[in-house]
Amino acid sequence: MSRYAVGAAAVRDYCARYRDLIDDWPAFAEVIVAPLPTCIWANPARISAAGLSDLLAGEGLVSQPMGWQPTGLRLAAGVRAGRHWWYCAGLAHAQEEASQLPVTLLDLAPGQRVLDLCAAPGGKTAQIAFALDNRGTLLANDFAPERIKALVGNLDRLGVVNAAVTCHDGANYPTAAGQFDRVLADVPCTSEGTLRRNPDQVRRLEGQPSERLAARQRALLRKAVQRCRPGGRVLYSTCTFAPEENEFVVADILAELDGRLNLLPLQVPGLTTAPGVTDWRGRRLDPALEQCLRLWPHQNDTGGFFVALLEKDRTLPCEPDAVVAAAEIEPGDREWLEWTNARFGLSSEAWSAWRIHRQTRRGLHLIAADLAAPAHPRPEGRGLFFQRTNVRPTKLTTAGALLFGPHAQCHRLELDAAQRDAFLGRKTLTPAPAQVRDLTPGQVLVTYRGFALGLAVWHRSGELESLFPRRWSGCTAGSDDAD
Ligand SMILES: C[S@@+](CC[C@H](N)C(=O)[O-])C[C@H]1O[C@@H](n2cnc3c(N)ncnc32)[C@H](O)[C@@H]1O
Repeated sequence: MSRYAVGAAAVRDYCARYRDLIDDWPAFAEVIVAPLPTCIWANPARISAAGLSDLLAGEGLVSQPMGWQPTGLRLAAGVRAGRHWWYCAGLAHAQEEASQLPVTLLDLAPGQRVLDLCAAPGGKTAQIAFALDNRGTLLANDFAPERIKALVGNLDRLGVVNAAVTCHDGANYPTAAGQFDRVLADVPCTSEGTLRRNPDQVRRLEGQPSERLAARQRALLRKAVQRCRPGGRVLYSTCTFAPEENEFVVADILAELDGRLNLLPLQVPGLTTAPGVTDWRGRRLDPALEQCLRLWPHQNDTGGFFVALLEKDRTLPCEPDAVVAAAEIEPGDREWLEWTNARFGLSSEAWSAWRIHRQTRRGLHLIAADLAAPAHPRPEGRGLFFQRTNVRPTKLTTAGALLFGPHAQCHRLELDAAQRDAFLGRKTLTPAPAQVRDLTPGQVLVTYRGFALGLAVWHRSGELESLFPRRWSGCTAGSDDAD
């Protein structure tokens, strides 16, 4: 018997506790042990969903539009998106279909100030960033430093410049951060809804009762509501089935706020959903809790998710605005920029959307021109680390090369498919004379099918040395900070 078959029986047995909540138990029992389709969304800053779908077809990958989520695509189960060049180039992000739901319900628009309280590894943060058109102020917080590395890696690869990252206990998020138009509380949970991806996790679940997590979830939702401005919205979400972590948490916070917080009705055209649970293990909730929304795996062939959208009473008093952290450069920094501008022929138009900021001795970060991060809690990072200045000559990072790609006028080198794979595998290659006709030796921005892949050095010997980060080759989404 395979390891998976053992897992399947255990998963079904475990989930049977929710049998009475599920409209079609046989369908659920079949799907909960079936492999999960791979789902991605197209990075709107780089490619449309239709363009990505065509590109994938050219690579022999069949994709289906999600329909309800305009940038989302479904691929076959087992496709490892992170191993493909288009993923390394930041054209897409892999995110389970159900997990793409919460951000689409936040009614986001450019100009809003947004807090993502439990952000790592950042799929939803990146969705928010692009819903804000990569402008304005988005705070992405998580209390786990090692998970923040993955978050920053994803934001770098996708070219997010409007996010500031903080590492803080979300349940004690400082008042000094100010209030936000929208707050996402995608809280830690028992993750029962991810059992299709990781059936072995069922063993861990048996020892982790939901009640233990519920106190932390309530604390996080309570703080999310405090940090929301009057009239603003909070989206509470989990990827778990247990009502103790879902409707019960929302009901408790609604009761604490006693009429100053309202649950909003939710609808997602194109997705089959179920209402919130109001009667579970002896506890009966207000029927209004039915306005929460559940996504059971068998309904749309996804993982499981729970969402609740809350609006804070607009007549409540507003708190003072946050003190904004300064974004500064040092006197010599303009010279580094001039070097990069001259080498790659970057247009002044590209720079109008960005500001630069020196956060570390290693180099410069690029931030959205109107990003106004609070001074407290002190951001771990703001925007995207794009230029290393502690090396001679100064050097773009891979994240910088991906971002500048469409704006670069010179020292671009288009690779063929074999060269692309060699570049991503950090191998040295020798381009044909026709490919390098317009280049002078030194740094070049390499592209494939017109999309930037990263940075290389073209030597007088005719060899092209890949500077693709070791941690990204092979292919993960990590940051190239250490290279
Ligand atoms: C469900 S995951 C978030 C997933 C993320 N929103 C995404 O879409 O990629 C929950 C996250 O909450 C973080 N977390 C747990 N307790 C926290 C706390 N007290 N404050 C802030 N973050 C916390 C965990 O480190 C974890 O990264």
